[in-house]
Amino acid sequence: MSTDKRILLVIGGGIAAFKSLDLIRRLRERGFAVTPVLTPAAEQFVTPLSASALAAQKVYRDLFDLTDEAEMGHIELSRAADLVVVAPATADLMAKMANGHANDLASTLLMATDKPVLIAPSMNVRMWEHPATRRNLAALQRDGILTVGPDEGPMACGEYGPGRMAEVPQIVAAVEAALADGPMTGRHVVVTSGPTHEPIDPVRYIANRSSGAQGTAIARALVALGARVTFVTGPASVGPPQGVEVVAVETARQMREAVLDALPADAGVFAAAVADWRVENAADRKMKKDGSGTLPTLDFAENPDILAEVSALSKGRPQLVVGFAAETHDVIAHATAKRARKGCDWIVANDVSEGTGIMGGSENEVTLIGAETSETWPRMGKDEVARKLALRISEALA
Ligand code: CTP
Repeated sequence: MSTDKRILLVIGGGIAAFKSLDLIRRLRERGFAVTPVLTPAAEQFVTPLSASALAAQKVYRDLFDLTDEAEMGHIELSRAADLVVVAPATADLMAKMANGHANDLASTLLMATDKPVLIAPSMNVRMWEHPATRRNLAALQRDGILTVGPDEGPMACGEYGPGRMAEVPQIVAAVEAALADGPMTGRHVVVTSGPTHEPIDPVRYIANRSSGAQGTAIARALVALGARVTFVTGPASVGPPQGVEVVAVETARQMREAVLDALPADAGVFAAAVADWRVENAADRKMKKDGSGTLPTLDFAENPDILAEVSALSKGRPQLVVGFAAETHDVIAHATAKRARKGCDWIVANDVSEGTGIMGGSENEVTLIGAETSETWPRMGKDEVARKLALRISEALA
């Protein structure tokens, strides 16, 4: 692959910094120009000389370097790249980014840039799972920061778990996805995916069996065509794809808020299995047996229908709205009626009755239903369905 794309690579101070040297090589092999920035802590792990030699570029280290400022000011440096990559993104760097600190070169560049930012977190498992890091990650994802990894596995510190920096090929793939040019470049798509959880009390909830596999595959296929994807996901068992902006939600009402916040978009793809009802009398304390044998009664309220609401928007409706219909009988009739009822442009219908092996399986057989068209695709892998649908979406928006 030959590219004239430029990467500003911020190397944080973690043991995984040694992998960043290989990352520079692999990115250059793929045709990217890489400008390294080292934090003072990173210099404890890799030397400016090795980063500079591998990048065949000057390495930037100091915010108050008069020579650098005379050559290229830090604001200019932050914008000269097409993508800013932070690898390893330490807990400290993530905290600085989440809170808007700008007290050294790396954090200042990250505040000043107007380009997409991709981080590859890397830290000890306890640090990764610490509530502060959870909060910072959520804030960064809300801000549109892209993430790759971390992986799970044995760590340099001897512990085991999530926190290990993604491997170099994974980071290269995420960089390419973030910079992909394709028929959907410049387009924004909101994709919902996964189940929702509707609380009964602080420890119990109502859920469904959606894994999020099809929604994830669709988001990945759209990114591969160059789209910017806001991925609004309930608590799915499949991890989100790389290169999307993840908005993690739990309930249908949170999903609705997140979708409306993500608009405007050129298209909306509503693949989530949204709970139709929520528990109206959900308790704010754990419900306890009182010994009298009285059973709790749950009152239900209807959840907002996100697909119908977005389809009916008079201002800001995406040009193309796609819904899903998983049915067990009279699939085409039910799906056709659903399309009309919800007001969306297309419905992707599938038969999830027992015996088809589709629910929880890796294949799908779908019918794409439009206002006047209905087209059944042969049975194929869910990734293949996703790619075909993404192509159709790009053609419809062209
Ligand atoms: N959907 C939504 N918000 C809801 C319910 C469903 O956005 N509250 C979307 C789903 O993401 C999907 C489509 O609507 O794209 C159809 O979902 P489905 O659960 O099949 O529709 P229902 O309205 O629940 O229809 P029914 O109960 O009649 O099957």
